[in-house]
This record gives sequence, C-alpha cells and structure tokens, in this order.
Amino acid sequence: MTARIAVLASGGGSNLQAILDHFAALADRAPGRVVLVASDRPNALALERGRRAGATAIALNEAARTAGLRDLLEAHAITHVALAGYLRQVPADVTTAWHGRMLNVHPALLPAFGGKGMYGHRVHEAVVACGVRVTGATVHFVDDQYDHGAVIAQWPVPVFPGDTAATVAVRVLEVEHQLFPPVVAAVAAGRITLDASGRVTGLRTPMLFAHFAASDASGAADAAPW
Ligand code: GRF
Repeated sequence: MTARIAVLASGGGSNLQAILDHFAALADRAPGRVVLVASDRPNALALERGRRAGATAIALNEAARTAGLRDLLEAHAITHVALAGYLRQVPADVTTAWHGRMLNVHPALLPAFGGKGMYGHRVHEAVVACGVRVTGATVHFVDDQYDHGAVIAQWPVPVFPGDTAATVAVRVLEVEHQLFPPVVAAVAAGRITLDASGRVTGLRTPMLFAHFAASDASGAADAAPW
C-alpha cells in the first residue's frame, strides 16, 4: 500500500520541506507521498510549501483542528501523520486512530525539555538556562500526551559556552531536517513499527547520527539503519 501522508505544521514548515525534498529524492523508492498539509495558522508558510509540492493545503479553524480533524484525515484517506512544528494538541480520537502511524519531531532530547508548554524557542531557552552541554532532536510516535510517545530516533547536538537559544535553535533545526524525513519514510514503508507492547521495532541501531555520518563518509547513501 502506498502511504498517504498528512503533515500538520504551525510555522515556516522547514521540516515539511525537508520531508518533501527527501520523498522527491527517493523518487520511485518513496513509500508514498505527502497528500495533505494542514495548519492552524492560515498564513503559515507551510501551507504554501505544501501547495507548491502538489498537496492539498488546508487552514484549520478551531472546529477543524478539534472535533473535525479525524473526519478531515479520513476524507483524504490519510495513512500516516507527521507533526512538523505543530503547536496544537492533537485530539485523542485522532492519536488513537493513527496510533503507531503518527510521528512528531521535538527539538530536544526527550524526555528532557518536553511536555506541555515546551515548544519552539522555549525549549532552547530552557536548555541554555539549564546549562546542559548536550541537546538534540527526537522523533517519536505520538500518543495522547505532549511529547510522550515511544522514542524512535535521536540525534545529539552540542551546546557551547556562549550559545544563545537562537544559536542552539539553528544547530538543532539542521539536525531535525536530517533525522525526521528518513524516519517518516521508514515508518511509512512499514520498516519501523510500534508493537502491541508499545516498543519500537525495526531499528537495527539507535545510533542514527553515527550511522548517517558513516554512510555519508563512505558514500553509501542507500544504507539504512532499519
Ligand atoms: C522545529 O524546531 C520543530 O521541532 C519545532 O518547531 C520548529 C518548527 O520549524 N516544534 P519548521 O516550521 O519545521 O521550520
């Protein structure tokens, strides 16, 4: 079955763009395509990016992002959902219906610096204020709590003395762009799954960053850690 992916985004949509570019680069090997982009912000650049890529782009009013979201996703026969900088909570009927098929990218190493109210720059501000030396990006399955579902992949990013929330944000976003698209593709292809006991299956190595660095160096772009 070819995956029909919806991406929900509230902002600029650079993660959405990274997914679109990755799937375009996979060409015939892409496990599906992004058919729907939806945003709670009518002016979100993400909508324009989606439209340009040939997806249906929809601005969600309050009813559409709450009681109506499940119907919308079903109307578009959506098989998988990627949350790419989506700042609203997804209703429980949707997280239940797409259980194991809905992913989020978070700009820190969960479970640190996650949870309600921990989004966007607040995450990086907390990281800098806390004085940790490592942060990063996390891709996880979505459940009915903020930033809580099973972790699929993580990528560490250093925090240097003198860093600000803004400099950390740039470094983490770059890593999100590398990490999120291949994980979306692997889940869409059924290579990574969430089993009945809530465990992630299919990942041969949790060291994705090391894996990608090594395969870049050897030029083995097709090698995948799943
Ligand atoms: C990313 O850092 C994402 O993890 C966070 O918000 C940012 C969105 O960036 N939740 P973009 O809209 O994908 O450019």
